[in-house]
Amino acid sequence: MLLLLHGTGGDENDLLSLGRMLSPGSALLSPRGNVLENGMPRFFRRFAEGILDVDDLKQRTYELASFIQAASEHYAFGAGNVIAVGFSNGANIAASMLLLRPQVLAGAYLSHPMVPFQPESTQDLQQKPVLVASGRADVIIPTGQSEQLIELLRSNGADVQEYWNNVGHTITHEEVREARAWMEKHF
Ligand code: MLT
Repeated sequence: MLLLLHGTGGDENDLLSLGRMLSPGSALLSPRGNVLENGMPRFFRRFAEGILDVDDLKQRTYELASFIQAASEHYAFGAGNVIAVGFSNGANIAASMLLLRPQVLAGAYLSHPMVPFQPESTQDLQQKPVLVASGRADVIIPTGQSEQLIELLRSNGADVQEYWNNVGHTITHEEVREARAWMEKHF
């Protein structure tokens, strides 16, 4: 089961073809972010670009985790088999879920994420596969942010694979190939 989490201004349709490419046989769960910023759907509020409203993020992370749990009962899939696939804002709420409710995710592909917040306690992410994909020319997410997130996830035990390219805040074909290989290797 892939949990698809779109970026700011996207919706539940954006990542469907990506999900099918990554894992053709998998069921897809694709919610729309329920916060609107000037009409653009997102998964949590922010004060400005790159300045996240952490209280709102945490609350909506718990809500999303409950939604996954409810969906797993409704559609009869194991909540522990859910792999998050998030781009940008969607990657940030997926990273937040790894830090607050890791038991609802089997792993995560985080495309262009940042550090969602500095957690107060550690989590057991032992062996949890995480792919972090970042662009060195990303003007929205500075490279230091990706590096810090990778460090943070590793320090909690996650099995992090890094993928870097020289482009900006976008998903390239090469990144998709890399993510597909990562998915086949781990799941
Ligand atoms: C965020 O707000 O999650 C990040 O700034 C990424 C974005 O959505 O632009």
